[in-house]
Parts: sequence; C-alpha cells; structure tokens
Amino acid sequence: MRIPSIAAIMLRLAEDWRDAATLKRALFMRRRDFVLGALGTSALSYIKPGLALAQSKRPAIPYGAAIRDGAMVDDPFYPQAIIKYCQQVVGEGNLKWITLRPDRETFAFAEADALMAFADANGMEMRGHNLVWYAGNPDWVEAIGSAEEAKTELVHHIETVVGRYKGKIRSWDVINEPIADQPRAEAPYRDSIWLKHLGPDYLDLALRTTAAVDPEVQLVINDFDFEQPNDKTRARRKAFLDMVRGLQSRDVPLHAIGLQGHIQGELGIDKPGLTAFVAELAAMGLSVLVTELDVIDKMLPGPEIERDGIIAQRAKDYLDAIGAAKRPDAVLTWGITDKHTWVPVWFSRDDGLPNRPLPLDADYKPKPMMQVIEDFCAEQ
Ligand code: XIL
Repeated sequence: MRIPSIAAIMLRLAEDWRDAATLKRALFMRRRDFVLGALGTSALSYIKPGLALAQSKRPAIPYGAAIRDGAMVDDPFYPQAIIKYCQQVVGEGNLKWITLRPDRETFAFAEADALMAFADANGMEMRGHNLVWYAGNPDWVEAIGSAEEAKTELVHHIETVVGRYKGKIRSWDVINEPIADQPRAEAPYRDSIWLKHLGPDYLDLALRTTAAVDPEVQLVINDFDFEQPNDKTRARRKAFLDMVRGLQSRDVPLHAIGLQGHIQGELGIDKPGLTAFVAELAAMGLSVLVTELDVIDKMLPGPEIERDGIIAQRAKDYLDAIGAAKRPDAVLTWGITDKHTWVPVWFSRDDGLPNRPLPLDADYKPKPMMQVIEDFCAEQ
C-alpha cells in the first residue's frame, strides 16, 4: 500500500492551512494508522485497528456521504465512521460560494483542501459540490449588477476552483437546483442572480467553462423532487428533461444527473415515474448519481422501530426505482449520522423527537437504511 508522505501533503497545502486542528486530523487519519494500529497519540486512541480492513472489499457502486467540517474536528467518531463506511466524500458546504468566497478577492480553500487531504489519505474520491447555485451565495454575489459582471465572476470562479482540483475532483455538481420549485412552461427555471443577469445561458456558460478547465471531469446537474407521486414532481421531471434536450441540441457538454434524493418520508416513492425518468436520461446518454440521499421524517410516526422501517423502505424504493433503469455511478447520503444533519434545521418534528434521516443513528449505530444502501451498492 502506498502511503502519501505527510511532508508532501503539508508542503502542497501549507500556504492554505488555517486550522491546525483540521490539519492534524486530516493527516493523522491515514489508513495505515488503522491497519497497523500504529497510533501514538492519545487523542486518537478511540480508533480501533482493522476498520480499514472492513473496506478491503469495495462495493460495486461506491457509497459516500456529505461531510461537515466542524464535526471532523470536534467529534472523533465522525471521521472514524466515514473511514469505516465511505468510499467517497463531498463537502456539505466547503466548496459553496458562501464558504469559499467571503469577498470578491478571496478564495478560502483551507476546509476543502483538508477534506481533499483526508480523502486522499484514506483512498476515497472527493466529489465537488457545487459551482453554481441560487442559494448559498455571499452578499456581494447577490449584489452583482450586470450581465457582464455576472459572467466575469462566474468564469473566474469556475476557472479558479475547478483548476485547483483538476485531476483530483473527478465529478462536479456544476449546476445545483436549476429547476423552479413549481415549474411552468413559461418559467421552468429557478430564480437566481445568474438567471436574472444571464438568462438560461448561465447553464451553458457554467458547463462549457468547467469542461474547458478540466476536460476529464464528469459534468453533473444536480436537483431534487423527482420521486414524489404528485403533479409537482411530474412538472419538475418534464422541465428537467426539456432543459437537458435544450443543452444537448446546443452541444453543451453534460455527462450525468445528480438525483439528490431528499425524500419526503410521508409520501411514497412514485417508482414507475422515477424509473421512466431515469430511463429517459439514460437514453439521452447520461449517467446518474444519487447525491444527497436522506429521508425527511418530519411527518412520520414517532416510535423508532416503525419510523426506521419506513425510512429504510423509502430509501429502498428510491434506489430500486433508479436501479431498474440504470445503476447509479455512486450513492451518497447527505451526512452519515443523525447526530450531524441539516434536516432538523428545516424539518424538525412537531413532537420534539429528534430526526432520524440518515443511515447511522446519533450513536453511530447502523440502522436498517444502512443495510439497504449496502445491499444496493454491493449488487453487481
Ligand atoms: C444544505 C446544507 O446541508 C446546510 O448545512 C446548509 O446550511 C444549506 O445547504 N440541497 C443541496 C445542498 O444541494 O447543498 C443543501 O445543503 C441541502 C439541499
């Protein structure tokens, strides 16, 4: 096994490390440390040798999770779980403009670099999320005042960020959530500062610019609400397919669709509708990825066994419906443990019980959802 030299990683990244604790953890969490049990530091004594061996058999489809940088540093069990279960990682926020671009002049790469070093050191892929989004922008971006300024900033951002991770981040969510919440024929796209100034051309610009910077990168458009059994989902699928047809008719490069999979637990999955949607995308030559799976349990029954059972079933229906048309390139959940998840911020339960949207519970015990994912990803 080739172990990256600590000195090499430090040299490459030294100028950007702001956070000594992040550096320490990223460098210490090396696979060899797990295999050999060779840790000499008490801060890491919770680590049991052999976890990495559990990964020696890689699943047919890589599984990954969105990573919260704070938890990597503050919660020792968190990186341990990531190493145990994941073959991929993606920053939950560290590549968003709001984090990277506090002002027009700054690119704050420290956190994304730390995650990249962690991924490298543990034999994982890191996905990129995201380059263009209606949300998660700093005030100065929202204040962009002209098409020319929008174009200049967007191109500069993509060139700098994609350029930095060229050859390392091999799959980028270039565009995040472009479709309107309730798309109408005359207004299929979600409002954003980019749409406001550039119109739908911003889609072409972002994809073409990314491809020009790194021709090897997998170009992904990532979006949600494609699985609900209702008119809203049907309209969103249609708007999405129309958008892809438009891009292809203009020869805009695009390789894959990210199906986020923030499943609303109380609604069943429209399996035939989702399968047909993925089949259409596949027929257009596109790959699919499940990028942000979690099951929003705001409206589900309280008792844990019952709730976890429904959550696992929803995840299974979702994955099976996609897999029936095309096996995804990867399956990522949006977080890995109920201890660190975005869900309660937006979808807390009326009964005050903690949310349980993810494959591990708040004590890092695997729930039925984890088994569903492992079974799905293992299948050849
Ligand atoms: C969310 C993060 O999880 C939160 O921590 C953050 O405050 C807001 O963004 N779809 C996406 C993700 O594509 O980027 C969002 O992530 C969740 C919904």
